[in-house]
Amino acid sequence: MAFSYLESQLAHYSGMVHTRDEARRSEENAMNRVAVVTGAAAGMGLAIAQRLASAGNQIALVDLDGDAVTRAAAELRATGARALGAEADVSDRTAVDNAIARVHDELGPVEIMVTSAGFDEFQAFTDITTEAWDRMLAVNLTGTFHCLQAVIPDMLAAGWGRIVTISSSSAQSGAARMAHYVASKGGVVGLTKALAVEYAPHGITVNTIPPGFIDTPMARRAEARGDLPSIDAVAARTPVRRAGTPDDIAAACAYLCSEDAGYVTGQAIGVNGGWYL
Ligand SMILES: NC(=O)c1ccc[n+]([C@@H]2O[C@H](COP(=O)([O-])OP(=O)(O)OC[C@H]3O[C@@H](n4cnc5c(N)ncnc54)[C@H](O)[C@@H]3O)[C@@H](O)[C@H]2O)c1
Repeated sequence: MAFSYLESQLAHYSGMVHTRDEARRSEENAMNRVAVVTGAAAGMGLAIAQRLASAGNQIALVDLDGDAVTRAAAELRATGARALGAEADVSDRTAVDNAIARVHDELGPVEIMVTSAGFDEFQAFTDITTEAWDRMLAVNLTGTFHCLQAVIPDMLAAGWGRIVTISSSSAQSGAARMAHYVASKGGVVGLTKALAVEYAPHGITVNTIPPGFIDTPMARRAEARGDLPSIDAVAARTPVRRAGTPDDIAAACAYLCSEDAGYVTGQAIGVNGGWYL
């Protein structure tokens, strides 16, 4: 963001600065926040939920696959964590609102939100139907919008919040046969930056992780279909010489959700083994 633009926004911020006392109060609760993770039945979302739970947070796991998040939440509870699983299609605003209402009832107001729900699809640009385009945008971009709009009021009331969106390195690099996917993830990056600026004065940070190639069920399905090269082939060409893991993403996400990351907002924190610099 150009400095002159920042200056032009200063009037908007006056009188809304997060005080030191508020920050100290927040720190006392640092490891006992209510966190919602979408796409938490598998892959990165599941690893993020597990990591945030092991840090002491209370976790709501939200996913299209209700059975899988119910099981994952039960496994977290067995380790002593407070956790619930809620079925919701993030493209359905009512379903998202119902899931967040349940989180309120059972865990409390939401202070951490991580949006990992998403899907990919490979198709030549001229073969992408309007329906396929709309569904991609509805889940990956509008789904993120729904989830963030549903929890921002809690964060404003608390004067503290951490939002991490999962975008994609393809929004930086481009990708053939993925125009609708890449457009949806570019939208997520833009949404993240817009909200970072809007909510910075309220103690809410908003960052995105654009993962590179990560070994998850999504990547394995793409490999099996022949849409992506084999995981081993990608690993061999990756500068750090291995494929990324869901835990690589969870570690970066846990940092962005921590008290320590309070001065980091509006950033795209690439976790990609050195593919995109
Ligand atoms: N795996 C990669 O290499 C890679 C790279 C860049 C970005 N990403 C992004 O990372 C995120 C996580 O991907 P992953 O690899 O863990 O995928 P995954 O398919 O392994 O897990 C995604 C989860 O999201 C859920 N989901 C899908 N659509 C949903 C919807 N409409 N509502 C609620 N839940 C829904 C699925 O049920 C699944 O549990 C996605 O947004 C993906 O686009 C993945």
